[in-house]
Amino acid sequence: MTTEPLLLAQNLAVRYPNGELALHNVTFQIKSPSFMAIIGPNGSGKSTLLKTFLGLIHPFRGCIKVNGLDSVKESGKIRKMVRYVPQRDQIELTVPMKVKDIVLMGRLLKKMPPRFASSNDIRIARNALEQVNMIDLWDRPFPELSGGQRQRVLVARALASEGSILVLDEPLAGTDAESQDQIVEALGRYHKENDVSIIMVTHDLNPVHTLVQDVLLLKNTVIGTGAPCSVMDPELMKRVYGPTARIVEYAGHRYCMTRDSGIDRHD
Ligand SMILES: Nc1ncnc2c1ncn2[C@@H]1O[C@H](COP(=O)(O)OP(=O)(O)OP(=O)(O)O)[C@@H](O)[C@H]1O
Ligand SMILES: [Mg+2]
Repeated sequence: MTTEPLLLAQNLAVRYPNGELALHNVTFQIKSPSFMAIIGPNGSGKSTLLKTFLGLIHPFRGCIKVNGLDSVKESGKIRKMVRYVPQRDQIELTVPMKVKDIVLMGRLLKKMPPRFASSNDIRIARNALEQVNMIDLWDRPFPELSGGQRQRVLVARALASEGSILVLDEPLAGTDAESQDQIVEALGRYHKENDVSIIMVTHDLNPVHTLVQDVLLLKNTVIGTGAPCSVMDPELMKRVYGPTARIVEYAGHRYCMTRDSGIDRHD
């Protein structure tokens, strides 16, 4: 297990070619291993932060390191360590791939050609689909699935592949409460049972707070970081989600009400 922080950002700024400053003065540290959430409203720089530490975008100023590896100088090593589920699935829906092909792809892409699925690959892929309650759809064409079912298959693909850090950009987008619970619980279980860190982006606080250990609250810079209970602070929430954000305590739980997410429970 590494003693380096999972993520270490120092005075990071990211500017897009059109001049848009998506992130500025970003400094924070998250210890390893962790199951962490990056939260913030639309346009707050969450996806930009992921793409930056994966080495897909270079910082304009400062730096960010993943397990001690610099996002610019050591991006090759970072990509070997990370499994990334992008925000919008980039799978061509006109290709009639089956659910099993999508999940197995997570394992086969890291092999040298010719790429054949071994019985071990199939066992791991089936197990991953069971984790998100999708095993019954093993032989179904992927394009026939609903948006929420597709998200669960993509999470299963990430669970089935290898790498010590799992990065998911809005894996809960477009899913109903039941799918959200299944995805979050599968991720929480996976984190506990394996030596894997999980970094997940979500703009909905609701389903994740009871399971994650660390939260990074962004609005183009760091607004708050720490355990979920310390980030669930009325002043911080108002700074990010506007003056209507409220923290409500009821029956020993904390709830955050925002116009974005409705009611959010937190133990
Ligand atoms: N390719 C791009 N070119 C120019 N500006 C961009 C590009 N991608 C993102 N931005 C801008 O950078 C800012 C941060 O965008 P980003 O996608 O990181 O936000 P986000 O927090 O992931 O939002 P969402 O919740 O909508 O996914 C936004 O103002 C956005 O318009
Ligand atoms: Mg995004």
